[in-house]
Amino acid sequence: MTTDNYLELSQVAITFPTPKGPFLALQDVNLKIAKGEFISVIGHSGCGKSTVLNIVAGLHQATTGGVILEGKEVTEPGPDRAVVFQNHSLLPWLTAYENVELAVKRVFGKKKSKQEIAQWVEHNLGLVHMEHAMHKRPHEISGGMKQRVGIARALAMEPKVLLMDEPFGALDALTRAHMQDSLMEIQNRLNNTVIMVTHDVDEAVLLSDRIVMMNQGPGATIGEILKIDLPRPRDRVTLAETPEYNHYRAAVLQFLYAKKHASAKPAVKSEAVEETAEPEPGLVSLEEHKKKKFG
Ligand SMILES: Nc1ncnc2c1ncn2[C@@H]1O[C@H](COP(=O)(O)OP(=O)(O)O)[C@@H](O)[C@H]1O
Ligand SMILES: [Mg+2]
Repeated sequence: MTTDNYLELSQVAITFPTPKGPFLALQDVNLKIAKGEFISVIGHSGCGKSTVLNIVAGLHQATTGGVILEGKEVTEPGPDRAVVFQNHSLLPWLTAYENVELAVKRVFGKKKSKQEIAQWVEHNLGLVHMEHAMHKRPHEISGGMKQRVGIARALAMEPKVLLMDEPFGALDALTRAHMQDSLMEIQNRLNNTVIMVTHDVDEAVLLSDRIVMMNQGPGATIGEILKIDLPRPRDRVTLAETPEYNHYRAAVLQFLYAKKHASAKPAVKSEAVEETAEPEPGLVSLEEHKKKKFG
């Protein structure tokens, strides 16, 4: 196995049972990811980004095809694939320190001594600059800080793959920029393999080695993959002024807008569909409802 083939999604498709019958969310998803690569997944709401991530996490099982990590098939969640969700999932009754400690004990409880565990927890909280607030509980710290604790907890598990589902989506612009910079710095130091779902075009270009752009469902799949050949370390302010950065940015926007128009067209012809459509997020719902209604 070459390192280019560290993580592989092969012919992944998934069908969800719904009250209206089976719903094919993804099909023909093929992707090879190298060790240490930073991949962003971008696409319209409802296209299946979270589903892809959840399949890699082992939280969903692909209906056909599958995921191979370092030569082994993924069949269930495991500490080798840590997940960071958009809404930081810290346990509210535990301090930041204890939240990270819990995960560390679960993974390294038998391998590390008490003292080593304490050092490791502090080290990882240090990576996200949370030393000063590590004994506070989630309600005592800001959203950005909670998200940093969530990332520290994920990193502390030393996962082979770090999976992040819109991790900075709920943060204000300034905090988000700060978190993106620390993530780049950490990833540069640890060489983690990362898959991050985002709908922020600038975030995707700034952070990624490759951007995976998804088509809309039903039966969503990868539309295009954009390789981002920008030197690292990357500085957002300097980059924003370069033609290369703006070229990548425009390419992603173009993909997203082309998809939007492609899917919006048929919906205009049939207003009845629009009227009866349930208020689901994203453009995909119109297509989906039409398919369900008219086969
Ligand atoms: N457990 C589920 N049961 C039924 N449908 C689902 C389930 N999870 C996701 N879906 C559907 O699959 C599609 C992709 O969802 P998701 O991966 O959450 O999209 P995204 O993260 O890109 O917004 C959507 O149409 C959604 O309604
Ligand atoms: Mg999602």
